[in-house]
Amino acid sequence: MADHATTPNDGPRHHPAWRALEADQMHTGRRHLRELFADDPDRGTRMRASGAGLELDYAKQRVTETTLGHLIALANQCRLTERRQEMFAGERINVSERRSVLHVALRMPRSMRLVVDGADVVTEVHDVLDRMGRFADAVRSGRWRGHTGKPITSVINIGIGGSDLGPVMANAALRPFAQADLECRFVSNVDGDAILDATRDLDPAQTLIVVSSKTFTTRETMTNAQSARRWLITGLGDESAIARHAVAVSTNAEAVAAFGIAPENMFGFWDWVGGRYSMDSAIGLSTMIAIGPRGFADLLAGFQAMDQHFLETPFAANLPVLMGFLAVWNRNFLGAPTTAVLPYSEHMHRFPAYLQQLTMESNGKHVTAAGHQVDYDTGPIFWGEPGTNGQHSFYQLLHQGTTIVPVDLIGFLRPTEPVGDHHDFLLANLVAQAQALAFGRTEADLHADGIPAQLIPHKLMAGNRPSNVILAESLTPHTLGALVALYEHSVFTQSVVWGIDAFDQWGVELGKQLATTIAEEIVAPTMPTLTHDSSTNTLITRIRAARAAAG
Ligand code: F6P
Repeated sequence: MADHATTPNDGPRHHPAWRALEADQMHTGRRHLRELFADDPDRGTRMRASGAGLELDYAKQRVTETTLGHLIALANQCRLTERRQEMFAGERINVSERRSVLHVALRMPRSMRLVVDGADVVTEVHDVLDRMGRFADAVRSGRWRGHTGKPITSVINIGIGGSDLGPVMANAALRPFAQADLECRFVSNVDGDAILDATRDLDPAQTLIVVSSKTFTTRETMTNAQSARRWLITGLGDESAIARHAVAVSTNAEAVAAFGIAPENMFGFWDWVGGRYSMDSAIGLSTMIAIGPRGFADLLAGFQAMDQHFLETPFAANLPVLMGFLAVWNRNFLGAPTTAVLPYSEHMHRFPAYLQQLTMESNGKHVTAAGHQVDYDTGPIFWGEPGTNGQHSFYQLLHQGTTIVPVDLIGFLRPTEPVGDHHDFLLANLVAQAQALAFGRTEADLHADGIPAQLIPHKLMAGNRPSNVILAESLTPHTLGALVALYEHSVFTQSVVWGIDAFDQWGVELGKQLATTIAEEIVAPTMPTLTHDSSTNTLITRIRAARAAAG
């Protein structure tokens, strides 16, 4: 728990259900999953829920139905229904930035209407989707020609954070649905190696650059975009070539024009779409080029199906609500500081990185929405790798380490493309890990297996490690949309319980500001007077010396 003296009355701790959960923690929280299953052998058939094509098995969480009852009461006392309604109605629930939070409008069908500040945002969303669709079709079919008349064969998305991670993740996850003769690459890091590696073997005459930045001011993206611009102009010998080789995705039309991209080559979105909630906005342009407008429509339909499930399903059967509750229980009542997401799918290898931004930029907050210091823990550290690879690196700590790490195991019942018996073995591992984490191996088991006494402490596995298992039929655009929306709404549910603003990210600002000053000090022609702490001054001096030595 965070060690702060203040007790905000806008946080959850004053609610009766919080105290009931504290009492339950002393009871259920101290019981082993072996006991919970012995007392209630059928919990594995009951503690399941499904919606939008996804199934959640939470029987191996350290909760009983009494715990869930208290969590539902807590959600009611925190007014989750009302908060959810406010989000879907476009109220300014991002209080510190005074903004609506309407990523859910990005996937509303054309037939719906949602009026915010006098404008129907659903119409605006579909106008942009239609323009994206026409453009994506033109690129995919070869009708869009480059400056020298050749078709586009490579697309490079330049962006960072929310303007990169969603497209990168979706590009890998949906590879089997992508057009084979069109390659998508991604450049995010300001390290020059990234843009060099992405461009060195490409022909500028057949390359399209998509500059994706909500603000169009992010230093990394602008630096990479300028380098890409130079690469295009050098390669094509003409500044006017930019018109056929660079498009922008942004909310900042002025900055896009100043960069030299014409308005007809800009795809807009709105300040009510947070960066980490934007992969289904125009930020998904590279995804749409890869999988086509119909594939993108399926992705949006998956998001929408989960939105409807979140809106309409009672809390006790509501997937994102249940996942949000379990996250609160594990974080605040079982004291778990981290959560791992372990997709048993090679194509989902960037999903943990995507969720890292979604969860940690959203719920890594130290004050309530009203600005009071919290005196309870908020968002856990989120991390992960695909299975089975992780099993051969960090699972040792998951099974026998001294920190309990709740995990989400994600699996797909059918492979996208079957290869021998690979998929059966992959899923067997998922199920085995959930079982081993929950039940471990007792001394009696080890004795029965004839393990020598001196090895028993080493081979003992305490178990009682909680897990969710999330299953879907197969990994399709629809499934991916539903999965992302599942986590979006789980994050929202947690933020409502914690009383925090899940939609701002002030914590990333200070580093950006300091880097601007330090960059100037590193490149100043004469040694500037450094007024930082002695460590920072020494580092800057060392970097300047290396630059000078390199000439
Ligand atoms: O890292 C902070 C952040 O503001 C993220 O929230 C955002 O996704 C990213 O920078 C990129 O911002 P932009 O799309 O404006 O370039």
